[in-house]
Amino acid sequence: MKFLVRAAAAMGLMALLAGTAHALTAAEEKIVERIRPIGEVCVEGQDCGDAQPVAAAAAETGGARSGADVYQAACFACHATGAAGAPKLGDAAAWSARIGQGMETLVSHAINGFGAMPPKGGCMACSDEEVANAVQHMVDNSQ
Ligand code: HEC
Repeated sequence: MKFLVRAAAAMGLMALLAGTAHALTAAEEKIVERIRPIGEVCVEGQDCGDAQPVAAAAAETGGARSGADVYQAACFACHATGAAGAPKLGDAAAWSARIGQGMETLVSHAINGFGAMPPKGGCMACSDEEVANAVQHMVDNSQ
């Protein structure tokens, strides 16, 4: 009796092993799809099907925030109103001489502070890259 059970188990195992070679049925493919690891990463250069390569998606998912987002969160308070003498977004006259200094100087002033402009506009949680994105956003919309 014991032997029979074991033989049956072995046969079952063999059937299982043999079974792995067959092409997946639609139902099995669905299971594979369901147990696929979450957050599988598709790296740029790979064939990712519809998935966005990581580099392209970074801005939306945890990477540096866009200039528009940072501006709204950290710069808007002064640069939309002209508070403390801040050059207003969209005011080409107020920006032209500043833009003339070059992006490097503008970004450095925004990061380190300049006159009544506090370092990073007071947003110490903003990365240098995010502040630079915000400067670019203001410059792009003020010429
Ligand atoms: C508390 C108010 C305030 C906030 C918030 C603020 N700024 Fe300013 N900003 C100023 C003022 C005032 C000036 C003008 C300083 C001057 O010319 O003396 C200025 C000037 C600037 C300039 C021009 C610098 C130059 O060299 O002429 C840039 C670029 C700038 N801000 C970027 C930013 C960015 C990016 C943010 C958000 C991350 C931000 N600011 C947030 C007040 C602010």
